[in-house]
Amino acid sequence: MDRRRFIRLAGGGAIAATSATTLTGCSSALPPEAIAAWQGPGEQADVRRWLVGHALLAPHSHNLQSWLVDLGVPDEITLYIDRSRLLPETDPFSRQMMISQGTFIELLDLAARQKGLRAEIALFPQGAFSPTTVDARPTARIRLVPDTTVQPDPLFAQIFRRRTNREAYEAREPDAAALQAIAASVQSHAVRTGFVGGAQAGALAQHRRIANEAWRIELVTARTVLESFRVLRVGPKEIAQHRDGLSLNDPMVRVLDAVGLFDRNVAPGPDDFATTSQIKDFNTKIDTTPAFFWLVTEGNDRATQINAGRAYVRAQLAATATGLSMQPLSQALQEYPEQAGPYADIHQLLGAPSPRFTVQMWVRLGYAPAIEPSPRRGLDAHIFKT
Ligand SMILES: Cc1cc2nc3c(=O)[nH]c(=O)nc-3n(C[C@H](O)[C@H](O)[C@H](O)COP(=O)(O)O)c2cc1C
Repeated sequence: MDRRRFIRLAGGGAIAATSATTLTGCSSALPPEAIAAWQGPGEQADVRRWLVGHALLAPHSHNLQSWLVDLGVPDEITLYIDRSRLLPETDPFSRQMMISQGTFIELLDLAARQKGLRAEIALFPQGAFSPTTVDARPTARIRLVPDTTVQPDPLFAQIFRRRTNREAYEAREPDAAALQAIAASVQSHAVRTGFVGGAQAGALAQHRRIANEAWRIELVTARTVLESFRVLRVGPKEIAQHRDGLSLNDPMVRVLDAVGLFDRNVAPGPDDFATTSQIKDFNTKIDTTPAFFWLVTEGNDRATQINAGRAYVRAQLAATATGLSMQPLSQALQEYPEQAGPYADIHQLLGAPSPRFTVQMWVRLGYAPAIEPSPRRGLDAHIFKT
């Protein structure tokens, strides 16, 4: 075994890896039950289950899938956040959690349209959460009304093809028509979007610098690293058992984990190869990323955050339709104190001074190799009353 690689993996350095590395007789493909939800929910006697079976394919920070639905009232879906699935270190005010409720709601809406249903969506029907915490009240109540004037949305077809792609992107710039389609897809939401590419070399360099610095900070901050370690799923057994979190199925990591050399209770030190090699890998991907996309809101209340999630997943679906991939870069947008520098820098760079404006999503954008979908827990895991 290559010593450098051994040390890197032993220190947990492959946290975000989706390497296709294989050893003889040992596959890095995800176990089929972990990705079965991507086959679709199949016919369902209750159409609401069909809708939820599509919505659960939405992107969610750290793939926590913190969605609970109550189907107790006919023709209604009441959505709650699963408060056992939060990320208090990296998302202290649950802003990304609200965005992730929004992505779910948007896919639910697309699925409803597909069935000729108008989804009447009331956000926070019992009042909004405070700016800093979430509580037991619902995030949305969705009433489904048959309506012959409802049009299906072409983005529906992209739900099954959408992926968060963490591979290296091609140097090729996104074409102008694709960028236009992405911008057009979010027009129904009160968000400002933008792109930067090679034509703005100075700004592009700034984007790369901030992304790299924010990632470095996250990796040298023990408590944020450990938060990710807690939702790491290593190997097919853990991946199939949890079907959430960050999947790590590289055969080499599995071997190290099996023999106790990958300790998920200890964050690697800043100068450990585990940290420095991961920073280097990330920098290489960022420095070859041809374009970045962002989504900014004026204000940052809970409904605004949810709507930002609705807009984001529409943008990602529109990108998917044009063959483009996205990977969110959340580190600089996070509110924990160590990120104050990158947070201020990205808000300034995007002409979105805080607190009036909030950069809700910032992603790298480009053409990338095809990848597998990520795990989902499946329909029944999200329904708590029938
Ligand atoms: C609010 C939000 C923040 C996210 N931040 C990151 C991030 O910083 N880095 C990353 O690689 N993926 C990020 N993601 C993508 C999720 O990790 C991804 O949606 C999840 O793992 C499920 O994978 P999928 O999108 O391929 O279905 C984010 C997603 C959301 C909705």
